[in-house]
Amino acid sequence: MTTLKNVIVTGGAGYIGSHVIYVLQKTRRYKVISIDNHHNSHPAALDRVSKLSQSELPDDATDADRESTKIESYKCDLTQPEQIKAVFEKYGKGGIWGVIHIAAYKAVGESTQIPLTYYANNVSATVFLLQVMADYECHRFVYSSSATVYGTPPVIPIPESTKLQADSPYGKTKVMCETILDDLCHSDKSWRAISLRYFNPAGAHPSGQIGEDPRGRPGNLLPLLAQMAVGRVKDATLKVFGNDYPTPDGTCVRDYLHIMDLASGHVLALDALAPESKVFDANADAFFKAYNLGKGKGLSVLQIVDAMRKATGFDYKYEIIGRRRGDVPDLTADPTLAEKELGFKAPANLETMCRDLWNWQTKNRLGYDTQ
Ligand code: WQD
Repeated sequence: MTTLKNVIVTGGAGYIGSHVIYVLQKTRRYKVISIDNHHNSHPAALDRVSKLSQSELPDDATDADRESTKIESYKCDLTQPEQIKAVFEKYGKGGIWGVIHIAAYKAVGESTQIPLTYYANNVSATVFLLQVMADYECHRFVYSSSATVYGTPPVIPIPESTKLQADSPYGKTKVMCETILDDLCHSDKSWRAISLRYFNPAGAHPSGQIGEDPRGRPGNLLPLLAQMAVGRVKDATLKVFGNDYPTPDGTCVRDYLHIMDLASGHVLALDALAPESKVFDANADAFFKAYNLGKGKGLSVLQIVDAMRKATGFDYKYEIIGRRRGDVPDLTADPTLAEKELGFKAPANLETMCRDLWNWQTKNRLGYDTQ
C-alpha cells in the first residue's frame, strides 16, 4: 500500500481549513489529521469533506486512496501545550510529516478590543505548536498569514518584499509569527517553512457541500451578503464602511480569490517543503519563504455588491457610514512570486466566486446547522 504522509491541519473544520483538507485528499498522497477548537467552525464540515472526497474516488481506488479520504479529528485548544502533545503522541516521533497551521482569530476590529486574547491564540499557540513539533521531529510548516501584514502598503500591487507594518493587533500577530518562523529556520536548517499571505478568499466548493459558515453574524463582506440574500441576516441594508478612500469609487479595494484556488496554493506550498523540492536553494541561510496568494486584481466594495446582486437576484440596499477601524484603502496582491516559484494559479473570476458562494448558501441556508 502506498504510504500516505500524515499532515496536521489546524483549524481544519473552518472555511479555509475544510477546503484545504479537500484538496489535500484529492492528491491521494496525504492523510489528514484535523485539530480544531470549533470556536468558529462546525465539526459537520469534516464529515462533509470526507463524504465529498469519497464520492469522487475512482472505481479502481486502492486501499490507500480510501484511507486518504478519512480525517482523524481532534478537538484541541492550541493554547494548551499538553493538548497538542497528546495529539502528536498518538503518531510518535517522526509520525507527522508536516503541519498546515490555519487556526487563528482573524477579525481586525475585534483584535483592537481584546489584543491579549489575539496574542495568546495567534502567537503563543503557534509557539507551543512549533515546540511540540520539534519534540516530535516534525519540521515542515505551512503558515496561514494575511495581507494585513502589509498595513497600508506604499505600492499596489503589493510584492512580498514590501516592509511588514501591520496596523492592528491581528495583523501584528501575523507579522510576529512570520518573524518567529524566520528566526527558527535561521537557527536550524532542518526546519522548512512557508508563510502564505492570504488576500480575500471567497466562494465555496462548486458542489455546495462545504462553504463559509462563521459562528454568529459574518464580519466579512461576502458571507454577509450571502446571508442577507437568504434572509439569515435580517438587515435590509448593507452598511458600507466609508466611500472617502482614494480608490476609483471611494470604497475599499481588495483582491478576492476563489477559496478553491487559495486551498490549492496550500498543497503547492506543502509539496515545496519536500526534500526534493527546488523551491529552496540548498545554500540559503534558512528554508523560510513568504508568498502572496491573490489574483492580482482589485475590486471595490460596490463592485462586490453589484456582482452579488447579479448572482443572487437580491436587490441589496446600502448606506455609506464611517470607516471601519483597521481598514486600509487597497490590498491587491502582486502574485507573480507564488506563480513563478510554486506554480500557483488563481484563475476563477468574480462571477464564479459569487455563483459558488450563492450555491453553497442556498443549499445550506442555516450553514452546517441543518436542524
Ligand atoms: C472587505 C471590505 C470592508 C463588511 C478580512 C480579514 C483579513 C483576511 C481577509 C484572514 C472592507 C467592507 C465589510 C461590511 C463593508 N482574513 N465591508 N461592510 O477586512 O479585507 O479582510 O478578510 O486573513 O484578516 O480582516 O475583508 O470582508 O471584512 O471587508 O463595507 O459589513 O468590505 O470595509 O473594505 P477584509 P472584509
